[in-house]
Amino acid sequence: MNKIESQIPTSIGIIMDGNRRYARSKGLPTLEGHHSGYQKLREVLKWAKEAGVKEMIVYAFSTENWNRTAEEVSYLMGLFRESIHVLTKEAIRDDVRIIFLGDRTRLEAGLQKVMNDAERETVKCSSFKFGIPDLIIRTSGEVRLSNFLPWQSVYSELVFTKTLWPEFSKEELLSILKNYSERERRLGK
Ligand code: FPP
Repeated sequence: MNKIESQIPTSIGIIMDGNRRYARSKGLPTLEGHHSGYQKLREVLKWAKEAGVKEMIVYAFSTENWNRTAEEVSYLMGLFRESIHVLTKEAIRDDVRIIFLGDRTRLEAGLQKVMNDAERETVKCSSFKFGIPDLIIRTSGEVRLSNFLPWQSVYSELVFTKTLWPEFSKEELLSILKNYSERERRLGK
């Protein structure tokens, strides 16, 4: 892939929305949409890194998501536990640092341990940093931020796409990055 040389956002935030709608549209069990969403996350991490982005922050679980059915919450927690394990191995291989934001005290002890291990094992990796996302992308057609990084996002450029998260493509990411590079960022000036 060619790097987009002009103006690459240092940081992108992604609200990965539309997993269940994707599963329904494919006739799959609804919760399997989250698994497809996780696979997409692995792909997008790779594409963003290749394009020159330095940091990616994703919205995996909001406080409001605790109100979903016990079955779905439990499915998601199991998926997080498994996937963080895999993502940690990949992060060590690719020199990516993993940091979890937000309150983790309500999560079960086993999941908290996997998260702490991921942070500890990748602490020396690369230049990944907690920053102020220059660009926030929300998939699936919802046009709001839903509590995602409320103060860090004050001057972020926003992109809302109708694409369901598991169908998000490399072409669309590159087109969003190109669109970003053409925007005039005045940062309140
Ligand atoms: C929103 O789609 C998505 C979520 C609430 C969960 C997102 C989680 C993943 C993609 C798994 C990622 C794994 C890690 C380790 C970060 P939705 O369920 O609201 O879909 P809908 O809008 O179609 O109902």
